[in-house]
Amino acid sequence: MNTRLVLTSAGGAAVALAAVVLAGIMSPPRRVEAQNRGNNDEDQLIRIGYEIAPVPLNLERKNGEQRRLVGLGSYIVNAQADCNGCHTGGAPPNFNYANNGNPYFLNQPLGTVTDPTTYLAGGSPFGPAVPSSASVGGFLPNSIPPSYPPAGYPTDPNTGFPYAGPGIVSRNLTPDKNGLPEGGHTLEQFKEIFRTGIDFDNIHPTCLSPTDPNVALGICIPPPVDGSKLQIMPWPAFHNMTDHQIEAIYEYLSVIPCIDNDFAPPPAGAPNELRNDCGDTASRHGAAVSRHDTQPNARR
Ligand code: HEC
Repeated sequence: MNTRLVLTSAGGAAVALAAVVLAGIMSPPRRVEAQNRGNNDEDQLIRIGYEIAPVPLNLERKNGEQRRLVGLGSYIVNAQADCNGCHTGGAPPNFNYANNGNPYFLNQPLGTVTDPTTYLAGGSPFGPAVPSSASVGGFLPNSIPPSYPPAGYPTDPNTGFPYAGPGIVSRNLTPDKNGLPEGGHTLEQFKEIFRTGIDFDNIHPTCLSPTDPNVALGICIPPPVDGSKLQIMPWPAFHNMTDHQIEAIYEYLSVIPCIDNDFAPPPAGAPNELRNDCGDTASRHGAAVSRHDTQPNARR
């Protein structure tokens, strides 16, 4: 047997072995296979998405393909990305949950119930993008930057520490009366937000210097924070989603009830980011409240 032959047959054995191993990996136990086969997998996510949407959905003008996107979008928003965990307009003690429906509390008669009256209406306060290092007793050794803000920024009268920029507040994601999601952004803009974190409203630009007039106004963020990017918002994770998934989220956000958030303090400066023109507010908002007030979330 010459060397070449040996190599070839060894190679053949390796290929055969790999095939057996691969077959093992690729054929899951039969029960899982039944629930989880190719395209049907998305059908399942769509079905769950419709089951768990915590508000009534306005599907009037949506065709079949758009309805599939809505279901998938609901699955991503409500089962995976927890958009409402941050974009709720609710405040303590229950934040995004309804009274008696807060799953983190003892003895909740309603189980888990999302509060439809604040759903994705924005207004949760997160504090500054980076706190003043003086306010937290200094940063860890080797941090870059070693302190914050850079030298020369004035004392913020609200905190008593050097100015570190405005508090970041989540935005209203509900559609306006025309059914355009989150402040009227187009699908293309929405994709760009998810891919790059760009803040099209530019409400907190980077401060150009400690004497930038935006410091006195309390709206700019000292460097090295890039104020042109959305802060806190997990776009560095979301930018890995597929176009199809981002489109699904956008479609879902166009069918949830409009909420004109006049109850949470808006971010500093800028026209009030939380207000929304719902047209006939009473009926759309009211419908959401009465239908789901006491209905536990599906699949608790
Ligand atoms: C960890 C909290 C958090 C989560 C989770 C989160 N967001 Fe955000 N999002 C924010 C904050 C805070 C802002 C505003 C950031 C700023 O002002 O710098 C924001 C901003 C946005 C904006 C920009 C709005 C505008 O008017 O330009 C969009 C769009 C958005 N979020 C959509 C979503 C969607 C959709 C999800 C779920 C898939 C989501 N967010 C999940 C915190 C979050």
